[in-house]
Amino acid sequence: MNWQKGLKVRVESNAPLRSKTTFRIGGRARWFACPKDAVELSLLVRAAKKHRLPVYVLGAGSNILVSDKGLKALVIKLDSPFFNRSCPSGTDLEAGSGIMLSRLIRKAGALGLSGLEFLSGIPGSLGGALAMNAGCFGKSIMDLVESCEVMDYNGRIKNLNKKGIRYGYRSSGLSDYVILGATLGLTRKDRAVIRKDEQDYLRKRRSTQDAALPNAGCIFKNPEDSSAGRLIDLCGLKGRRIGRAQVSRRHANFILNCGNASSCDVVKLMNSVRRQVKNKFGIVLEPEIKIWK
Ligand code: EPU
Repeated sequence: MNWQKGLKVRVESNAPLRSKTTFRIGGRARWFACPKDAVELSLLVRAAKKHRLPVYVLGAGSNILVSDKGLKALVIKLDSPFFNRSCPSGTDLEAGSGIMLSRLIRKAGALGLSGLEFLSGIPGSLGGALAMNAGCFGKSIMDLVESCEVMDYNGRIKNLNKKGIRYGYRSSGLSDYVILGATLGLTRKDRAVIRKDEQDYLRKRRSTQDAALPNAGCIFKNPEDSSAGRLIDLCGLKGRRIGRAQVSRRHANFILNCGNASSCDVVKLMNSVRRQVKNKFGIVLEPEIKIWK
């Protein structure tokens, strides 16, 4: 299929995705491209739409499980300088969606701008964090958004302001679009205080979560007024293993890739965990990770 004829952006075929995910699991993308800016991106998504090619946008690859069979799709990664920009304006910080949260947090801290510290240690990109309204310690990133620039799958750019974006716990209306960038509203604070707060959040995260083996963070969303990790733990499932996938012994809402786990191992383990939590507590856990298949 020569759907990419005439496009300036280089489109790689049969690109391995495994190394591009924090789970280190998954097959190949039939097509893979890194557009340099919004114009190239627009041409790409329009060509994909014309040829009925599904499009997936890869952020930091930290919240996805890719099927071992790979994807008959176009996977787009926004990591050119355009999508990695960050520019302050007063207490606002405008940034491209491809920038890693760690870099954005560092930049804000160096400018004496506070608000992002609670996200310290999340291995995600700004776009990924916005699409799922990433959060922790009772706060979430969408609370900081002043406006957001997005592209629909017809290649049209839209500017959405805060009031026009609906969001909730781990969900955001922005996931209907390709996110191009956002303006975050921050506040001034002493740089040393920001730095200390970042370290405190990082310490808290490290004391409870598991980073020893490849994983995708929390697997399930927390049910209302409850904790998925606690429920799974109370079912006695810490350490439970299927194939090379294992429920973390440190935090039960993490599944670890103990080396060459297949996507199937993880899905079977997720199903088993869900079944047991449903049987014991009557609660159906909803996945937080996105399964690409
Ligand atoms: N708990 C257990 N056993 C476990 C894990 C947790 O009993 O194996 C208990 C804890 O002792 C605590 C409660 O469950 O009383 C909540 O645990 P924790 O503080 O670790 O937070 P969480 O609800 O499991 C949420 C987010 C995390 C975020 C932390 C920190 C979700 C699904 N998870 O976890 O986000 O880092 O709060 O605020 O909302 C992620 O989204 O990938 C993620 C890891």
